[in-house]
Amino acid sequence: MFRLNEEFCALANHCVHQGGPVCEGQVSGTLAPDGEGGLCYEREGEVVSCPWHGWEFDVRTGEALADRNYRQPTYEVVVEDGTVYVEA
Ligand code: FES
Repeated sequence: MFRLNEEFCALANHCVHQGGPVCEGQVSGTLAPDGEGGLCYEREGEVVSCPWHGWEFDVRTGEALADRNYRQPTYEVVVEDGTVYVEA
């Protein structure tokens, strides 16, 4: 589960690549084209990298950044009276 300010996101832990423990990966941003032929760092806190082979996933959608044909399953998150629930 990830918290982005007031938003919560939940992903399956077993990586869609080869089953690595996504929850043990580093949360960061990613490099993206800057429109001038270079790269810029963006989306801090919105990307988790699987620790086994480094695939990066969007924590909101579960999409693999390098190939959107791959996606970590996501779960609905509900906050009620200050308690966070994940609907599986
Ligand atoms: S098992 Fe996650 S990137 Fe390979």
